[in-house]
Amino acid sequence: MKFQKLSVLLCLLCLNPSLWGRESIRIATENVDLIFRVGDNGRLRQVYLGKKLLNDADIQHLTDGREAYLTHGMEDYFEPAIYVEHGDNNSSLELKYVSHEERILQEGVKETVINLADEKYPVSVKLYYVAFYDNDIIKTHTEIVHKEKKPLMLHKYASSMLHFNKAKYFLTEFSGDWASEAQESTQELLFGKKVLDSKLGSRANMFTPPFFQLSFNGVAGEDTGEVLMGTLAWTGNFRFTFEVDNYNCLRVISGINPYFSNYELPANNIFRTPDFIFTYSFNGKGVASRNFHDWARQFQLKDGQGNRRTLLNNWEATYFDFNEEKLIGLLDDAVKLGVDMFLLDDGWFANKYPRCNDTQGLGDWVETKEKLPNGIGKLIDEAARKGLKFGVWIEPEMVNPKSELYEKHKDWVIHLPNRDEYYFRNQLVLDLSNPEVQDYVFGVVDGLLTKYPQIAYFKWDCNSPITNIYSPYLKDKQTHLYVDYVRGLYNVLDRVKEKYPNLPMMLCSGGSGRIDYKALSYFTEFWPSDNTDPIERLFIQWGYSQFFPAKTICAHVTTWNNKASIKFRTEVAMMGKLGFDIKLSDMTLDEQAYCKEAVKNYNRLKPVILDGDMYRLVSPYTGYHSSTMFVAKDRLKAVLFSFDMYPRYAERMQNVCLKGLDATKMYRVREINLMQGQVSSLRENEKLYSGDFLMKVGLNIFTNQKMNSRVIEIVSE
Ligand code: GLA
Repeated sequence: MKFQKLSVLLCLLCLNPSLWGRESIRIATENVDLIFRVGDNGRLRQVYLGKKLLNDADIQHLTDGREAYLTHGMEDYFEPAIYVEHGDNNSSLELKYVSHEERILQEGVKETVINLADEKYPVSVKLYYVAFYDNDIIKTHTEIVHKEKKPLMLHKYASSMLHFNKAKYFLTEFSGDWASEAQESTQELLFGKKVLDSKLGSRANMFTPPFFQLSFNGVAGEDTGEVLMGTLAWTGNFRFTFEVDNYNCLRVISGINPYFSNYELPANNIFRTPDFIFTYSFNGKGVASRNFHDWARQFQLKDGQGNRRTLLNNWEATYFDFNEEKLIGLLDDAVKLGVDMFLLDDGWFANKYPRCNDTQGLGDWVETKEKLPNGIGKLIDEAARKGLKFGVWIEPEMVNPKSELYEKHKDWVIHLPNRDEYYFRNQLVLDLSNPEVQDYVFGVVDGLLTKYPQIAYFKWDCNSPITNIYSPYLKDKQTHLYVDYVRGLYNVLDRVKEKYPNLPMMLCSGGSGRIDYKALSYFTEFWPSDNTDPIERLFIQWGYSQFFPAKTICAHVTTWNNKASIKFRTEVAMMGKLGFDIKLSDMTLDEQAYCKEAVKNYNRLKPVILDGDMYRLVSPYTGYHSSTMFVAKDRLKAVLFSFDMYPRYAERMQNVCLKGLDATKMYRVREINLMQGQVSSLRENEKLYSGDFLMKVGLNIFTNQKMNSRVIEIVSE
């Protein structure tokens, strides 16, 4: 920590235009500098973004750069950050520096606010930058406000604009689809634009999540190369625009997707954009990911420092086909496995149109009498008797047209009044822009928790994008829908968090159709994919691990791809927040015994996996093998996972060098999680090595067997 003292408010006010041309503003973390300077014309320029400058005096030599927050209607010919329309139909905006303030929010966290204003129109824009010194993370957003007589029409309102001047740019995105989320691909950015965006509204990230990696000059590796990793904390439509101009300069504009989102802003109301969060690494992606993981656990994630419970979920074990007896049988399975909690999934509610499949019942949140004559209460009591916590699946923002809710409250549903409805997964989205609907959705959660205060967990699902796009509530402000929907959702989630601050919740959206860092301030973890084939999960979890720590990534053992052994399936799941979605009767006794042992091992290793440093050693994208290790913060313990996916015939195995250990310490290497009677074939098993050796020479972790896996515990002695 290089901060000397917690100072309260350091305020620099520079209203005097004579300072233009001299003022520079430095947003700094331990290794990164983002520097602005006020140009002779009074406009703010980004003059530097890169490795920390060691010599303060050098800052005065920074003269180049681009206007920091470019406006529409002036002399720039490329994509602007902001585009507004004044009451007189003029749509130009010229933002000049007015002042800036800096304050320490807490130790190691400093906020800088830069105030810009137009001289001709009473419109001002504040640029916020929060620098997390130890994490090399910068969080930025914008506030727009005006005092014009008529409302100001916002056409574009970016959270952030960043400029780069490098020889080459490579963008890595993580696009995919349902069951193939977070697939990594990289392309060079050449002249023109590349846009990553979503206009799906609620299940906004079904095809692409709101994060990217940008490597400079060459494609960054795990430990080499310059890379900026950025993400938008917004649970709705987003847009990242990457534009290379005629000088080969790149601008990156991040924010809410302006598509069908013109926003009418009345005077004196503040329009706050979502946070764009980024880190910059000069030593590859591994560092950048660890920056995000540490920052998230410390500052952003709900209960980021807390524990996570293992669980048994009944979804894949039963789908909709269950009753009280079956579920009680599964509670016994949960006890035998040694997990902490049982999670009751979809299919427990509605009576007029019982939820026996996904075509009906959504919206009617009372237990189906036929399936659960004694309600959830009986199951909770049974679970408690067996020492298990109990969680419940809900999807409170949605409705099936075949439901009592729809019959009673069609006015609460987003739908086109004069056209036939079309459905995504047989359902429609409730109109969260309407405060009455917000109350209702909060009431679903609050009602269940009031009736059953012992509910220890929710899985909150969201299976449909916003379809039939028309809000009965917003009337002549239809283009507010996408933004106000998300704000309505946050209003509900704020209320849930305030009333039930310690309630863990899983964020789900038909897999990870809704995953971002704002949502994760309300949720402790997320469901990355309905695809639980362990081979596919190696790729999907690899993708999410770029930005999200293991403790947020739910990973369940199921029967998907049961050509892979239970050991392989479990060991993939152990790299995240471990759960099971399987009946014990789907396993042999040996397999059951293995799983129990694996749960015990996982509980012991949780502090390393969930709260340690993650090192991605071998990428599944090699196609043959994959390996990831986790190292405890004190570097006394580590655990390494290795997977032979599809090794080549007679492939010569290379040692894999470990990372993150203390070179001066001695570590015992031990393969754990063996099947009954299995003897470790790891050449180095049970031997003692120095951290130096393990990091320079490495271990021979891979084999020639298809779908073989190993867990290796490394403990300092
Ligand atoms: C979504 C989720 C699944 C499951 C089903 C229930 O698809 O991703 O895990 O909860 O809904 O309908």
